[in-house]
Formats: sequence, structure tokens, C-alpha cells
Amino acid sequence: MQYSCYPIPFLFVIAIVLSPTTALAHQHYHRCTAKFYELTKSKNMSRCLRLPTLGAEMGWSAPLLKNCHHVFQVVFGAPLREEKGWLAWGVNPTPEGRMVGSRAAIGIRDPSGPPHCKTYRVGYETRRECGPLRPRDVEEMKCLRFEHDNRTGYYYLTATLNLSSTDYNVSKLNIVWQSGFDADGDVPKKHASNLKNIDSFETIDLVSGQCSDMAFIKIYLRQVHGIMNIIGWGTLLPVGVIIARFFREFPIETEYGWYYFHVSCQSIGFSTGAIGWGIGIWLAHSSPHHILLTHHVLGITIFVFATLQTLAIRFKPGKTDDFRKVWNIYHHFLGYALLPLIFINIFEGIKILKPDNKNTWKLAVTGILTALGVITFILEAYTWKKFIDYKNQDKKEGDIRRKCESTNYDQGGGSINKHQHGSEINQDGSGEDSSEEQHQQHQRSPQ
Ligand code: HEM
Ligand code: HEM
Ligand code: HEM
Repeated sequence: MQYSCYPIPFLFVIAIVLSPTTALAHQHYHRCTAKFYELTKSKNMSRCLRLPTLGAEMGWSAPLLKNCHHVFQVVFGAPLREEKGWLAWGVNPTPEGRMVGSRAAIGIRDPSGPPHCKTYRVGYETRRECGPLRPRDVEEMKCLRFEHDNRTGYYYLTATLNLSSTDYNVSKLNIVWQSGFDADGDVPKKHASNLKNIDSFETIDLVSGQCSDMAFIKIYLRQVHGIMNIIGWGTLLPVGVIIARFFREFPIETEYGWYYFHVSCQSIGFSTGAIGWGIGIWLAHSSPHHILLTHHVLGITIFVFATLQTLAIRFKPGKTDDFRKVWNIYHHFLGYALLPLIFINIFEGIKILKPDNKNTWKLAVTGILTALGVITFILEAYTWKKFIDYKNQDKKEGDIRRKCESTNYDQGGGSINKHQHGSEINQDGSGEDSSEEQHQQHQRSPQ
């Protein structure tokens, strides 16, 4: 059976793409940059961790247990590119461990005065944007300083923590961090809602210095999702369509070859895309507050359409079936409708992901699209050239036939039968169309 080797390249792709995930899942420990490490050492911090988003890093001293409270110091730093802006670091005692319910130290940089730092409680009203986030004293922390470090180029805040051992588990501490680009006095204004800002929470073990790695895994899987979708939906499916369009009968006939290539390309493309799609759904479920409507609707539509197309492998009506004509129209229509949806969604995905190397992603997809476009254009031009050549040839043969008929008639030989006429043309080499099938092929439009 021709399809028996499908899983080999397919499993190979999955193994390559997914292997770093397993490596990441075992890594747990993300070293700080050398410069930030130096900074934490100079502040007598014993642990240091690179956080997955916003270019942030943190260091802390070993927690000491005093009167049922864990006492330690934290240094949190990140770049602040705007002239005005803020950096926040907080802890959250709730099981969800995200923004709402967190107690945070926020350092504000304002060109009208020196950088300053205060403590805040972030609640639902902040999420719903029902009023300013004002500073208030919290039991858990005190913000000591907010300053700039020339060596790292970061702004960093220093805070002392005093966490009740009944509310906080230092081996599984939920931390959040954030950066914003505007503030009004000591009131920070809303931060952006990019994926980088949404992923800024983690669970860390203050004793061992390890973290859950959830955000690192999500960031990595988003890239896997993008690459698998670009290869599956955005490359293999269009290649399969090109094969069905140009290598079936006209301009290039490959007997059954086109069919095996079409089915192979579409099956591997569908499977690769479906895994990428599944990863997308998992990612969306793990950030349920963040809604990506256009990408979601297009993603679901593409998956449903492609599944219907792939069902052809099992449920395609036979060549002589009355329903075959309708199936052909439906399969053509749905197949072509899929292509623009796929490319719109790929560009939409890149827009959401906002990767640091956004231009490389865009360039890669534009490169694939251009290559597919150029190949299609060349094959389409060749199809029309061949079609026009056949038309001209048909016209020439028609003229010869008419001339012969009138000559024979003038010479009184009007009784010549069709079969003899056909062989006469073939003998003088001017016509290959004595076969009914080939004659039909000459008549076939490239559409
Ligand atoms: C200044 C006022 C703030 C406003 C108006 C605000 C608003 C929001 C909103 C609307 C979201 C949901 C975005 C979405 O899902 O599309 C969000 C998420 C988030 N915010 Fe804030 N925020 C503020 C301050 C902070 C602070 C100070 C921190 C850090 C301590 C923070 C950390 C986060 C994190 C980690 C998320 C993503 C996780 C989650 O959904 O809870 N935010 N914020
Ligand atoms: C894997 C299962 C599939 C099978 C068995 C299959 C089978 C076929 C067959 C038999 C034809 C020729 C129809 C005719 O006689 O006119 C065809 C054409 C076509 N297929 Fe598929 N197909 C499959 C998957 C797909 C998928 C997933 C797409 C989605 C892009 C697709 C898009 C097309 C298109 C656009 C054409 C028409 C090409 C043209 O002639 O212009 N096929 N397919
Ligand atoms: C045609 C190809 C694609 C399909 C069918 C697709 C499908 C999906 C689906 C169904 C989701 C879940 C959305 C939700 O339920 O809210 C998703 C999420 C996402 N996709 Fe795609 N996608 C495609 C291409 C891409 C590309 C090329 C990228 C980036 C380069 C990308 C980046 C993302 C991101 C960042 C998310 C959000 C994940 C999260 O919420 O954490 N997608 N995609």
C-alpha cells in the first residue's frame, strides 16, 4: 500500500518539534544574565531567576522563618524603555495566582521627579478598570527603593517580604510581575494586553530556586503551533492543490501519480496542521481570559473545512456514481475557499504572537506564498499555452479535413468513409487525434 510510509516523515517532524518541550519541562531553572547576577550578589541575594516575559529577572535572599512569617528580600529588575512608566512585582495567596488578589510593589519612573516605589493591592475593580489603582499599605511587603542600574540598563526595585506561613507556601509561591508605559503621580495606568503581559505570572520554589516553567512552555508551544500550522496548512495543503490542478490530466498527465501525491500531501498537511491546531486550542484554554475572536473563528472554520475535505479519503463517491459530479464541485469549492482563509489566519497569528523576530516570520510566510504563487503562475501560463496550441492545431486539422473533403468531392470520390479519412490524416503525420480520448483532451479547458 502506497500510504504505509506516511507516519515516518510525519513522526520525524513531531519528534523534532516537540523534543525541546520535554527538555524545557526538565530544566526548571533559568539562570539570570551575568550582569543581573552581579547586581543581586552585590545586594547579598542567594538566588536568582530569569523570568519568561518582559525581559524581567529577580533575585532573593534565603527566607527566614520568624514568628510564623517568612522574611526575605527581593530585587526585581526589567528594562523600562519609555520615559514614563512603571514596573510591578507581587505575590498572590489565592490558588489562581494571577493579577487579581495580588499584593504588589510598584516602582514608577516619571520625568518630573526621582523614581519612587509604593505598595498596592490589585483587585477585581482594577481588572474591570472601575477606578484608579491607589497605593496602600499591605502586611506582606514594603518597597524600599526603585532605581536605575547602569550596568544592566534595568530599572529595579528592592522590597522586603514578610509572608504569613498560613497564607503563603514558600515552596509554591505565586508571583506576578508587570510593566506599564504610563502613570499619573503614584497611580499606574493600565498595561498593554499583549501575550507577554498576560503570561507574567509563575509559581516558584523560593528554597530550591526552581519555577513551574508554565510560561516558558507556553511561549515555546506558541512557536511550535505557528510553525506546524505554517508547514501543515500553509505549505503542504496548497502544494497538494497545485498537484491536483496541474498534474491530473492537463497540462501534465501523471495517470494515478497525481492522486497519490495529492492524498499524501493533504493527509500529512492535515495531520501536521491538526496537531498545531490542537496545541492552539490547549494554549487558548490555558489563558481563558484572553479572547482572540478573529483567529479563533478562522481557526475553527479552517479545521472543519479541512476535515470535510480529508473525509474524501474514505467517503469519496466512485467515478461512475451519479453523486460524483456534485462531490467534485463541492471538493473544488471548499478546497479553494480554504486557501485564502489559511493565509489570513497565519498573518493574524503572527500579529497576535508579536514575536521579537516578527519580520523573520512574516518574511518566511511571504516567501512560501510567493514561491507557491510563482509556481502556480508558471503552470497556469503553461496550461493556457498548451490549450491555445491544441486549439490552433485543431483548427488546422479541421481546415485540412475540410480541404480533403472538398478535393475528394470535386474528384467524384465523395463516398470515402470516416475511418479511411482518419487514417489518411494520420499517415501524413498531421493529426494525432484519431483516438477519441485524445481528441477530447484537446477540447478540455484548463478550468
Ligand atoms: C494599573 C492598573 C491595572 C489595570 C487597569 C490592569 C488591567 C488588566 C486587565 C484588563 C487584564 C486582563 C487582560 C486580558 O486578559 O486581555 C490584566 C491582566 C494581567 N495583569 Fe493587570 N492591570 C493593572 C495592573 C497590574 C499590576 C500592578 C500587575 C502586577 C502586579 C498586573 C499583572 C497582570 C497580569 C499578570 C495579568 C495576566 C494574568 C491575569 O489575567 O490575571 N496588572 N490586567
Ligand atoms: C486526503 C483526502 C483527499 C482526497 C482523497 C482527495 C481527492 C481528490 C480528487 C479525486 C480530486 C479530483 C476531483 C476531480 O475529478 O475533479 C481532488 C481535487 C482537488 N482537491 Fe482533493 N482530496 C483530498 C483532500 C483535499 C484537501 C484537504 C484539500 C484542501 C485544500 C483538497 C483540495 C482539492 C482541490 C482544490 C481540488 C481541485 C483541483 C483542480 O482540479 O483545480 N483535497 N481531490
Ligand atoms: C492557519 C493556521 C492557523 C490556525 C488554523 C490556527 C488556529 C488557532 C486556534 C484554533 C487557536 C485557539 C484560539 C482560541 O480558541 O482562542 C490559536 C491560538 C493561537 N495561535 Fe494560531 N492558528 C494558525 C496559525 C498561527 C500562526 C502562524 C501563529 C503565529 C505565528 C499563531 C499564533 C497563535 C497564538 C499566539 C495563539 C494564542 C495562544 C494562547 O492563547 O496562548 N497561529 N490558533
